[in-house]
Amino acid sequence: MQRAREEISDPACIVLTGDLSHEETVAGYELLKTHLGDWTDRALLIPGNHDDRAKLRQVFDQVPGELAEPIWFRRECAPWVLLGIDSHVPGQGYGELSDQSLERLSQDLAKGANRPTLIFLHHHPSPVGSRWVDAIGLRNAEPFAKLLARHPEVRGVFCGHIHHVFEGTIADVPFHSAPSAAIQFLPVSETMQFDLQPPGFRVIELLDGKFATRVVRLDHLPFTPRDE
Ligand SMILES: [Fe+2]
Repeated sequence: MQRAREEISDPACIVLTGDLSHEETVAGYELLKTHLGDWTDRALLIPGNHDDRAKLRQVFDQVPGELAEPIWFRRECAPWVLLGIDSHVPGQGYGELSDQSLERLSQDLAKGANRPTLIFLHHHPSPVGSRWVDAIGLRNAEPFAKLLARHPEVRGVFCGHIHHVFEGTIADVPFHSAPSAAIQFLPVSETMQFDLQPPGFRVIELLDGKFATRVVRLDHLPFTPRDE
């Protein structure tokens, strides 16, 4: 968070695509809130596989909906629209978009009336070429891709989950992952392998109809995972 504040002093919003907690505890979300500090109000949150929607709602007032129902966000940054969708499946590493989430996304895209739009979700929506991580990606990417194909105003899709930086496409829309704020994984591997890259985050700059994005890493803080 300190490095993010050095990079951009006054961001319009902070998008947290998960995982927000590993242990899925209220204490974990309270800790996250402490780190966000006075940026808490501008945080847009969606859960990853290692999250608990009800506990997340308990700590963050801005998360809409009730208890364990899917989470979403819609934020206008004129002329842009930012949409967050929930791919969490309780107890599973893989992701899925529920009928409810897809319906809400469809309605939000219609509401956007062709304004340039970015979509955020936790799981990677198409394969990234790493066998073990592709086995826990978004399982029902097809209806999502069909929706994107009908909405050319969607200029980019952003995800977390894979713990490394990847740039790909889904339905001809570019998608970008963010590095993990903790440990990194090797970009291509048969099984889970740590990478020694430092933690980082992604910056998105909204321009007139286009966006620019870059990855910032904490180069002074190499993160060396220990075997245990
Ligand atoms: Fe994840």
